[in-house]
Amino acid sequence: MERQPLRIPPLVDARKEGNAVALRVQAGATEFFPGRASASLGYSGGYLGPSIRIYRGDNVEIAVTNTLKEDTTVHWHGLLIPAELDGGPHQIIVPGDTWRPRLPIRQPAATLFYHSHIHGRTGAQVYSGLAGLLLVTDEGERALALPSEYGVDDLPVVIQDRQFDDGLMVVPQGMMTMMQGRRGNTILANGTPNATARVPNRLVRLRLVNGSNARIYDLSFGDNRAFHWIASEGGLLDRPISVRSLTLAPGERGEVLVDFSNGQAVSLKTAPDTNMNMPMMIGPLAQARKLAKEILGGQGEAVLQFVPVGGLGTPSKIPERLVERPRADPSKANTRRRFVLGMGGMMGGGTRSGGGMVINGRPFDMNRIDEDVRLGETEIWEVSGEMMSHPFHIHGVQFEVLSRNGGKPILRDTGARDTVLVKEPVELLVHFDQPAEKAPFMYHCHILEHEDNGMMGQFRTI
Ligand code: C2O
Ligand code: CU
Ligand code: CU
Repeated sequence: MERQPLRIPPLVDARKEGNAVALRVQAGATEFFPGRASASLGYSGGYLGPSIRIYRGDNVEIAVTNTLKEDTTVHWHGLLIPAELDGGPHQIIVPGDTWRPRLPIRQPAATLFYHSHIHGRTGAQVYSGLAGLLLVTDEGERALALPSEYGVDDLPVVIQDRQFDDGLMVVPQGMMTMMQGRRGNTILANGTPNATARVPNRLVRLRLVNGSNARIYDLSFGDNRAFHWIASEGGLLDRPISVRSLTLAPGERGEVLVDFSNGQAVSLKTAPDTNMNMPMMIGPLAQARKLAKEILGGQGEAVLQFVPVGGLGTPSKIPERLVERPRADPSKANTRRRFVLGMGGMMGGGTRSGGGMVINGRPFDMNRIDEDVRLGETEIWEVSGEMMSHPFHIHGVQFEVLSRNGGKPILRDTGARDTVLVKEPVELLVHFDQPAEKAPFMYHCHILEHEDNGMMGQFRTI
């Protein structure tokens, strides 16, 4: 297959727009492969949407017009805003309507993710293309002088797997799809198959976003080089962490710095996907994935190839420290809640909850509030998953992982986050400071077919 240049979503700088941005939800046709136009959806474009740069301290109006023939919503995943602005299943935009939330940006620099959250069809709409990035910036981040020239040394990389038949994108359906989540035979980076990015021969920042419906990526470079993980879902870490691989579950983001000064072309690749609902997956997550990897074998696949321009460069210095992060105090947490993400109805012979995806035995009900949390409180949420690993996401908060499987968190749990991969129990320290007066917030599995089929609940902050 022929290589294609990495597509870069257009950048919309909210300040240059007077903090009034417009998005059109539209149907389109996208040539993922030249000459083969697939039906797709996008925001102000054929597939995916612009990257919207927003500034901490500003209030940004984003006017979303739905030109589709079906309902949609736009959820600002990771943004800390009141629930009625959140774009969850309750903020429906009917065909022809425009929704105009005015978003107060009051959080540190971070790579956030906006996408459809229409109840029951989130998986289908996101799969077809309804997703994009919000890039929050602030003074602390700018003072670090990290690579930040969008599309040059600061690259968005939305990683998605999609199913293609004869060059055309198709939407997988059926029981297996519901159980494992929609997966595909082709990896896209910003909607580009077989993508190549030309990069300067110096330090480059990648904003890696797992925009897949279900697939987990275990990312590393073809030459196994070290790179520096600098930001989790909630924003910059205290200091860069040198790694050789980074795992991203659906909904998760990770910013990394990669040094291309050796001038050598290299590919970013992923290990095979092993997160399946199969008997061999029983056991602690790491062990099970290792076992599955051995059984499934394989060299992994390329996500994106990098070609540095300009020959040999000078190796770059990495800042030693990044930011001071305020942290919630675990001793202030008086309330503990437990959540079990279950697929009991499917594999348990229908003995549990009759037929599907549940949290604590109950499928999602839009008319039921599952939890009432006191506004301003800090709580411990203990979350575990059945049958396979599930990326657990909470709206309206950024939390910390306190423990995993009764022990210390793993490296990948570091930092403020809004999504975390669970199978074995994790304890999350969650501080709730966004009001939910007119609508509830969601928590759910970010395997979108699990979410659509009931693995979701809702809470109020009162
Ligand atoms: Cu990214 Cu409730 O979702
Ligand atoms: Cu969200
Ligand atoms: Cu799940």
